[in-house]
Amino acid sequence: MGAMQMTFSDEKKPTPTSGKVKMAARDVKVFYGDNEAIHGVNMDIMENEVVAFIGPSGCGKSTFLRCLNRMNDTIDICRVTGKVTLDERDIYDKSLDVVQLRAQVGMVFQKPNPFPKSIYENIVYGPKLHGLVNSKSDMDEIVESSLQRAGLWKEVKDRLDSPGTGLSGGQQQRLCIARAIAVSPEVILMDEPCSALDPIATSIIEELIDELKGSYTIAIVTHNMQQAARVSDKTAFFHMGDLVEISETREIFTNPKDRRTEDYITGRFG
Ligand SMILES: Nc1ncnc2c1ncn2[C@@H]1O[C@H](COP(=O)(O)OP(=O)(O)OP(=O)(O)O)[C@@H](O)[C@H]1O
Ligand SMILES: [Mg+2]
Repeated sequence: MGAMQMTFSDEKKPTPTSGKVKMAARDVKVFYGDNEAIHGVNMDIMENEVVAFIGPSGCGKSTFLRCLNRMNDTIDICRVTGKVTLDERDIYDKSLDVVQLRAQVGMVFQKPNPFPKSIYENIVYGPKLHGLVNSKSDMDEIVESSLQRAGLWKEVKDRLDSPGTGLSGGQQQRLCIARAIAVSPEVILMDEPCSALDPIATSIIEELIDELKGSYTIAIVTHNMQQAARVSDKTAFFHMGDLVEISETREIFTNPKDRRTEDYITGRFG
């Protein structure tokens, strides 16, 4: 089969996964009004795994990603059917606290969206909301550790009181990642987090993803296939609202099972 020329480092460490299913989707359909945008997706996301979602524009990557922390709830005409679980618990259950869910399953968007507040306040906002901090020293600690993990601490430690919106695009994106990890999520969803960034900022974020996957489960949407190959353990290919296939990333790029996947990764459409 024609495969994309892509290098896979044999030294790439396999993620030590627990073999536990962290999130599962069963027959998930998403409707915007009468339009069915996602046609019955089944997927298991394993704990501490990085899964990349790829596919042509409009195929439903963002829509499906948003199902995983109920961000679709915020879109009036949007309706989700089927089942999505986090640690075997139905996240669409009426008794579930959505604010709590979004702390457990955090999200980083395509366009960095820091709050119009200081760098410091951007980080402590979530921990305060969830009662994770009680004192100034708790807050200082969470600010430092989150910024450290997001690879931003050195650049901003002397200006924590400046507005987050005054940072460069790549710095703002790392601030948003720091903000997401400040509430100790279990899963992080990223929707094209590097699409507005230059190659240096992109590689910083990719290194960060590699580091974070030891502690978190990550689903990332990307149009950059090299990026998918570099950062992910598994890759899911979507096409016109269907999940066509999901496999080990190397398998998807070197030995895709479906013609549509092959056409996409070899650049014949999309
Ligand atoms: N808020 C919305 N209202 C109505 N239809 C929507 C909405 N968001 C997405 N859709 C539709 O759902 C389908 C999937 O869109 P989605 O944004 O999930 O695709 P995508 O794969 O993320 O695309 P891209 O790569 O361009 O970001 C498209 O047909 C789109 O028009
Ligand atoms: Mg999208």
